[in-house]
Amino acid sequence: MDADPLVDPLADPLAVELIGIHKRFPGVVANAGTELKVKRGSIHAVLGENGAGKSTLMNVLAGVYRPEAGEVRVLGARRVFASPSAALAAGVGMVHQEFRLVPTFTVAENVVLGAATRVLHMGTVEKQVADLAQRFSLDVDPQRQVWQLSMGERQRVEILKALWRAAEILILDEPTAVLTPQEADELGSIIRQMANDGRSVIFISHKLHEVKQYCDEATVLRGGKTVASSLKVEDLTSPQLAELMVGDATHTIRRPEPTQACATLLMVENLHALNNRKLPALRDVSLSVHEGEIVGIAGVAGNGQRELADVIAGLRNALSGSVRLFDRDITNASARQRFRAGLSYIPEDRVGVGLAVQLSITDNAILRSYRQHRRGPLIATDRAKAFCAEIVSAFKVRAGSLDQRIAELSGGNLQRLLVGRELTAEPSVIVASQPTRGLDVQGVTAIQELLIDARNRGLGVLLISEDLDELLAISDRILVMHGGRIAAQYVGVDANRSAIGLAMAGEPA
Ligand SMILES: Nc1ncnc2c1ncn2[C@@H]1O[C@H](COP(=O)(O)OP(=O)(O)OP(=O)(O)O)[C@@H](O)[C@H]1O
Ligand SMILES: [Mg+2]
Repeated sequence: MDADPLVDPLADPLAVELIGIHKRFPGVVANAGTELKVKRGSIHAVLGENGAGKSTLMNVLAGVYRPEAGEVRVLGARRVFASPSAALAAGVGMVHQEFRLVPTFTVAENVVLGAATRVLHMGTVEKQVADLAQRFSLDVDPQRQVWQLSMGERQRVEILKALWRAAEILILDEPTAVLTPQEADELGSIIRQMANDGRSVIFISHKLHEVKQYCDEATVLRGGKTVASSLKVEDLTSPQLAELMVGDATHTIRRPEPTQACATLLMVENLHALNNRKLPALRDVSLSVHEGEIVGIAGVAGNGQRELADVIAGLRNALSGSVRLFDRDITNASARQRFRAGLSYIPEDRVGVGLAVQLSITDNAILRSYRQHRRGPLIATDRAKAFCAEIVSAFKVRAGSLDQRIAELSGGNLQRLLVGRELTAEPSVIVASQPTRGLDVQGVTAIQELLIDARNRGLGVLLISEDLDELLAISDRILVMHGGRIAAQYVGVDANRSAIGLAMAGEPA
C-alpha cells in the first residue's frame, strides 16, 4: 500500500474508527449512530443479534455502502470510500460470507482478478501467493482450480486475495459459519499471526467460544447502536458475552432423555447418487430415523451430506437404493408428495431452495400450503395473512410488515420463517440441514429447542450439521459421513468428540 504522506501510522494506534455511522434501508434503520474503534495489531470481535447491523457497518467500512452520516477513519485518516476497491487501496479488505471466487480459475488467478492494471506474469504471482501462504500458514496450492477446493481452502484464497493487495485491516464476516471446528481453529491461528504482524482483524461470529479463543477485544451492537465497546475479551466469561449480545442471560440446551426403541419413520437403504458434477456423492448409504429420535449427521462439508438431504427430500434422483417413509416407498415421489406424506425439509440453501427471494413474507409462508389458502381460483389473502402472522409471532420473525420482501430480512429472521413454516405443517419427519448456521445465540437456542420439542412429541429428526457441538448437544445418535459413506456411528451419550473428529477426517477408528 502507498503510505499517505500526511499520516504517520505509528502516531495513531487505531486502525479503524467509525464515528456516529447512520445507514438506513427503506423502512429499516440498520446503523443508528454506530461507533467502533479497532486497535492496530489486534483481533476485534463485532457481536450482536441477527439484524443488529454488523454486516451493514462492515459494508460501510469496506466501501460497499455510503452512510448517510458519520465518519470513517482508517489508520488515522478520514476517508470517504466510493467503492470497495477504494477501501482496499486504503488498506481495508473484506471477506464476505458468500465467497466471490471464480470456480474455474486457479487460486493465483483469483487472487489477482480485478486488480491487474498492468500485465502480470502468472509465474511471479504464483510465487508471491505461495510466499504469502507460507508466511501466514495459509495452506493452499496457487495452481489449483478453486472448484477443487474445500470451503476452508476457498476462504484462505479470499484472505490471500486481501493480503496480496496489502490489506492492513481484514474484515471477516462470519468466517467460521462454513468451516469445520478444525478449520475454524486453523483460521484462529492464521488471524493471530496477522495481528502479530501488525495488521488488524475484525471478526464477526455468533459462536462465543470462538470469540473467547481468537479475539482480543469486542464491540457489541444492538438495534444498530453500540451498546458496549472495546471490551477486553479475557475479562469476560461466555455467559457475560451472551448476555451483552442479547440483553438477557441465555440458558443452555439440555440434552434430551434417551427414548425407547420406537417405530421406524424414515428408512434409507443402499442409496447411491451423483453430485452436480456427475461424480458419485452417495455410496451405499443406509440409515433409519425412529419416532422420537434426533439422528445427527456429522461430516466435513462436501462428503455427501447435501446430496443425502436432497435425495431424501426429493430434489435429487437416486441412482439406486430406496427411501421409505413409514411403510411407503417414496423413492420416486415428488418433493410435494413427500411433503404431503409428512416429510418437512429445512434446506441448507435457505434462499433459492427453501424461500423465494422475490416474494413477500406472506407468500413465502404459504409457499408449501397455498392450496389450503385458496378461495376458488384465488388466494384468500386474509387467510394467508393470518396464517403468516401466526408463524411470525410463534417463531419470533422480526420484520417490518408481512408484505415485506424476504430479501430484506436478516439471515436469522429468514431461518426462523423457514423453520416456522416447515414445523407448522406438522410433519412426521424433519430433515434439517445446517438449521442454525449463521444464527445468533438466541436463534440457535430457539431452533435447537424447537427440534428437541418436535422430537419429544414423537417426530423423527434428521439433523445435518457441521457444528459438532450442536450434534453432541442434541442428537440421540450421530452418524459420520465421509467420502459419501456412513463411516461411523455413535450413540449420543457415548459420543466422543475426538473419535468423531477422526472419523470426519477419514481416519480409521
Ligand atoms: N440491502 C438491504 N435492504 C434492506 N434492508 C437491509 C439490507 N441489508 C440489511 N438490511 C436490514 O438492516 C438490518 C441490519 O442488517 P444486517 O445485515 O446489518 O444485520 P447483521 O447484524 O449482520 O445480522 P446477521 O447476524 O443476521 O447477519 C436488518 O433489519 C436487515 O433486515
Ligand atoms: Mg450479517
